Amino acid sequence: MKIDPWSSATYQDYARLRDEFGIEEFNVDLWKDLPNPHKLIRRGVVFGHRDFQLIKDSVLEKKPWAVLTGLMPSGRMHLGHKMVIDEVIYYQSLGADIFIAVADIESYGTRGTSLEETKDLALNEYIMNYIALGLKPERCRIYFQSKHEDVKDLAYILGKKVNWSQMVATYGFNGSTNMTHVFSPLVQTGDILHVQLKKFGGTRPTLVPVGVDQDPHIRLSRDIAQSHRLFNVTLTKDKRIGVFVKIDKDVEKLLNHATTVLRSLNFSKLEKIVDYKAVYIEDAQVGDIKRIDITLAKTEPQFGGYGFIQPSATFHRFITGLTGEKMSSSKPESAIFLTDSPEESRKKIMNAKTGGAVTLEQQKKEGGNPKECMIYELFLYHLIEDDSELNEIFTSCKKGQKMCGHCKKYAAELMEKILIDLNEKRQRAVDNIDKYLK
Ligand code: TRP
Ligand code: SF4
Repeated sequence: MKIDPWSSATYQDYARLRDEFGIEEFNVDLWKDLPNPHKLIRRGVVFGHRDFQLIKDSVLEKKPWAVLTGLMPSGRMHLGHKMVIDEVIYYQSLGADIFIAVADIESYGTRGTSLEETKDLALNEYIMNYIALGLKPERCRIYFQSKHEDVKDLAYILGKKVNWSQMVATYGFNGSTNMTHVFSPLVQTGDILHVQLKKFGGTRPTLVPVGVDQDPHIRLSRDIAQSHRLFNVTLTKDKRIGVFVKIDKDVEKLLNHATTVLRSLNFSKLEKIVDYKAVYIEDAQVGDIKRIDITLAKTEPQFGGYGFIQPSATFHRFITGLTGEKMSSSKPESAIFLTDSPEESRKKIMNAKTGGAVTLEQQKKEGGNPKECMIYELFLYHLIEDDSELNEIFTSCKKGQKMCGHCKKYAAELMEKILIDLNEKRQRAVDNIDKYLK
């Protein structure tokens, strides 16, 4: 199985994806101690992660961390696009430094849209809605890939540690793939890692919340981050924990530095072996590895390294379209756009596919199937905050006490309120938009 980030495939079997690509399950222990866990988290829409533990620790210990996300505008912004930004807004409320990349280079390379077109759509559709949804633009950085020197420089420089076979294996590129497309994953790696450059806040845990289609990019940027490290901290085959120097220059100097750092972390049984380019730590536990690694990473810029910590990621499920297929801008009846009028959205909701039985009679007897119902998905992803209300709908639907017509009306009303509110907030955001672009 291969994930193609540029295809319009839908994914059904999230558990299988998780197993196949080594994504961890996003279980309750990871998020239960966060302040007011977001509904997409509580309800399992965010189903997987890589290294979220680092983010959790940063939140709980009140240490700095960053969130980076990117958007490649495709048509009008709809409910499927809203999820990432809902998550980002939640993380902003927890104190993360927020960065938002407009992927205009990627869009040009993979879809042929001009930089100008992308800019228009990104600002007037997406960023405007982000602000209306509650993103505090004064506390985040929004930028265009094509205008960001540091991001582009990183793409060129970091590309040194990736070769063509890797790109082919990851993305299925071939002889006719255009070079801007080939290069776009490196630009995305530049997006993801630049936030750890000194001038953007330095080495710190960085979360990239994405849909699972973006996982190839996550893996690439994690590999690249790791391959640029000066130190590697691991458990060796003979069960010793060691700090290893990964380059051939200044080995002794780096080992001495590692020794100093380890002592400052209160490790004292250290054995330095220059020939192995290693310092072994006899009094460390496996659970100490991450902490040692991060402490060392932060010091790497002093020695000419980047000291990038591998970015963390969360993966969310995709909302199904109202018609039961993928929610897509190119099929307006499948999607509710954030700029739809209340009438348009009501019409689409009334026509949506539900999990109801064929006849009312049958539904009363056998119950509905909320798991196959687009209306229920709307409630779960977007419309209902209160978990007990959501549960109530679920059980009464299953018991046949709820009828679809009634449910749809309720969904349409809730949606209408959201759309009206967004419309007002967009009007207010419109005057300010330029001032937030750095
Ligand atoms: N590739 C992403 C998309 O197709 C957009 C993107 C660009 C992005 N840079 C990013 C996403 C960095 C997450 C992080 O939508
Ligand atoms: Fe969906 Fe509501 Fe019908 Fe149940 S009653 S299938 S939740 S629309």
